[in-house]
Amino acid sequence: MIGKYNALLADGKTPPSDDGEWVRRWNEAYFERTGRQRLAYTHSFGCQQNAADGEKLDGILASMGFGFTGRSEEADLILFNTCAVRESAEDRVFGNVGALKNQKRSNPNLMIVLCGCMTQRPEAAEKLRNSYPYVDIVFGTGAMDRLPAFLRERIESERRVFWSEQSLKPLEGLPARRAGGPKAWLPIMKGCDNFCSYCIVPYVRGREASRAPDEIEKEFREILSEGYREVTLLGQNVNSYGKGLSEPVRFPDLLKRLDRIDGDYWLRFMTSHPKDATKGLIDVIAKSGHLCRHIHLPVQSGSDRVLREMNRRYTTADYLSLIAYARERIPGISFSSDIIVGFPGETREDFEQTLDLIRRVGYSQLYTFLYSRRSGTRAADFPDPVPAAEKSKWFRELLAVQQEIGSRFNESLVGSVQKVLIDSVGKEGGETLAGRSEANLIVETKGSSNLIGRFAEVKITGFKNWAVTGELLK
Ligand code: SAH
Ligand code: SF4
Ligand code: F3S
Repeated sequence: MIGKYNALLADGKTPPSDDGEWVRRWNEAYFERTGRQRLAYTHSFGCQQNAADGEKLDGILASMGFGFTGRSEEADLILFNTCAVRESAEDRVFGNVGALKNQKRSNPNLMIVLCGCMTQRPEAAEKLRNSYPYVDIVFGTGAMDRLPAFLRERIESERRVFWSEQSLKPLEGLPARRAGGPKAWLPIMKGCDNFCSYCIVPYVRGREASRAPDEIEKEFREILSEGYREVTLLGQNVNSYGKGLSEPVRFPDLLKRLDRIDGDYWLRFMTSHPKDATKGLIDVIAKSGHLCRHIHLPVQSGSDRVLREMNRRYTTADYLSLIAYARERIPGISFSSDIIVGFPGETREDFEQTLDLIRRVGYSQLYTFLYSRRSGTRAADFPDPVPAAEKSKWFRELLAVQQEIGSRFNESLVGSVQKVLIDSVGKEGGETLAGRSEANLIVETKGSSNLIGRFAEVKITGFKNWAVTGELLK
């Protein structure tokens, strides 16, 4: 019985603490009593960093004997790993938590756990405390390792647990339960020190701290040995990696060190900040065997005045000259970016400079956001005279311009042969396949599903707004 239990429940992982052992025994006893494994339903909102944290949270839950379900109605524990970057992200979380009220009423043993960025905003934590009394446990991004202790406390004391302290160091040694598929996340640092004036992230994720290069290399090798074909190094400001380590390492040097490791894989990184993106970084990509010839390099605005107000610490001239250097050194390199529309005080003229810049760069993809006021940030106090309807008009205009640019980019690939990492069956099912190119574009083709998880060569024959299509060569 115990043998079967171990295979079924522990997922081969060891709980990270004595409290984790305690929770594991609690789950074991339940299984012996009922013949049923307690199930967790977990969901991460927000960015890749949060998705990577979510894999660690899942790993910790698995190590304590929880199974997983994709149906929240049948869960014994529901965990939301939250995001606070825009108001809409918070609204989504509160909507999801609100929807659990009846489930908790009919199953008082249901454990509801809220963690991640949003919980680090004092206003949001207060709202959870006062208006959502059925939420059991609340803690932030830098306390994931304490999840077992929080669960134990909740079970033993029956008191709700609210925790706001954050670890100053990146958390090491937590088991991860990686999502399936050929791609893996690898966080190399935590936090952000940039304080862009609109952004809540430095407040909710705390100060920057880098992981030791040896730890990163060890995890990188493990990921490759598990058969992953693409590894994305993560950090809010990934290219400022290495500052503050006992022996400082620069980001391009870390890339060089990882790139030297043999294997059939792609290496990506995000998000790089233009102020820390150097020619040295471009030179490493130019010489590398594994780094994709694509950089996500968020510019946010094409107006130098707005960039100054945003506290971005580069000019459009700096940005464009780096892009020009990269294009000269690395033929075929492509770029994507984030843009904020409607930053406080942005004028029509500023906005037109953004349109001009995106045309000049010719991004393969653009992630566009309407400015969202985040209390506590500097920009929250800036005068913001442009009406919401006007900002929405600009936003739609930006989308239309990018659609044209993106289509032209896709069209330019017709006739070329692209290396593609096949990651799923295509939208139309059957013998269709979908994958990503080096530029992270969706590529659709036809072929057998046993190619999923492998690299293939595809001759591009057509294009759509959001994807290119082609014939599988090999
Ligand atoms: N560290 C990354 C991105 C973090 S958040 C970087 O610096 O690029 C992801 C994107 O959300 C940002 O690039 C920005 O475009 C957008 N964003 C952040 N705060 C925002 C806000 N208050 N309103 C609208 N968009 C915002
Ligand atoms: Fe936010 Fe700026 Fe840090 Fe990115 S670099 S997370 S936009 S403060
Ligand atoms: Fe959101 Fe936190 Fe990421 S606020 S965008 S989940 S760092």
